[in-house]
Amino acid sequence: MRDTLARWLRAAAWGALWLGSAVLAQTAPPALVGLGEPLEPARLARHDITVFPGGRNLPPGQGSVAQGARLYQAQCAACHGPRGIEGPAARLAGSDGWMGWDDPLRLLRIRKHPLLIQSVGARWPYATTLFDYVRRAMPYHAPKSLTDDEVYAITAHLLHLNGLVGAEAVMDRQALPKVVMPGLARTVSAWPPGP
Ligand code: HEC
Repeated sequence: MRDTLARWLRAAAWGALWLGSAVLAQTAPPALVGLGEPLEPARLARHDITVFPGGRNLPPGQGSVAQGARLYQAQCAACHGPRGIEGPAARLAGSDGWMGWDDPLRLLRIRKHPLLIQSVGARWPYATTLFDYVRRAMPYHAPKSLTDDEVYAITAHLLHLNGLVGAEAVMDRQALPKVVMPGLARTVSAWPPGP
């Protein structure tokens, strides 16, 4: 008698399991959020911000070295140091820290910041990329929080810290692509030629 009851119970359990999985198989999978929906232009614009090496896609606006110096102290100095060299985050200045084969002892003669070979000023090939990077990624804790004018100003200040533009310089979409970076001659471009 107990055996029969146990057999019935087991059969009923298997049946319930089978029924349950059949019901589950019928239910539609949850919809994947947002996939396949058209992106409205306003939302797309927030992501369509790539600035190309020659300056294509630079936004309107402008900013001076002096404005950038003030903004830099408020927004960047805590991590990159008051002059862009103290850290703790990446060095932003020090374009004369480069050592080449033509003058291997140059390092001994460098007057300031001999260890700044890996800085923005020494290594980055395009000033336009500096604008793009700062606009999309910095300040580290609040990316995309700066206006285009502010990014132009900070870019101008960083270029000035590297001795690449004068103290009176104002950067905008015309002036920025004209700044020649020392890093250009030290790099091979993966970009097709063009603006
Ligand atoms: C909270 C700290 C912090 C603040 C504030 C900050 N940065 Fe940075 N920054 C970093 C870190 C960390 C990195 C390295 C990020 C990485 O490699 O992914 C970095 C990298 C950079 C680089 C690239 C350096 C290189 O050679 O790779 C630039 C340029 C830069 N920051 C500019 C700025 C500017 C301009 C500001 C102010 C608007 C700023 N940062 C504010 C932390 C900070």
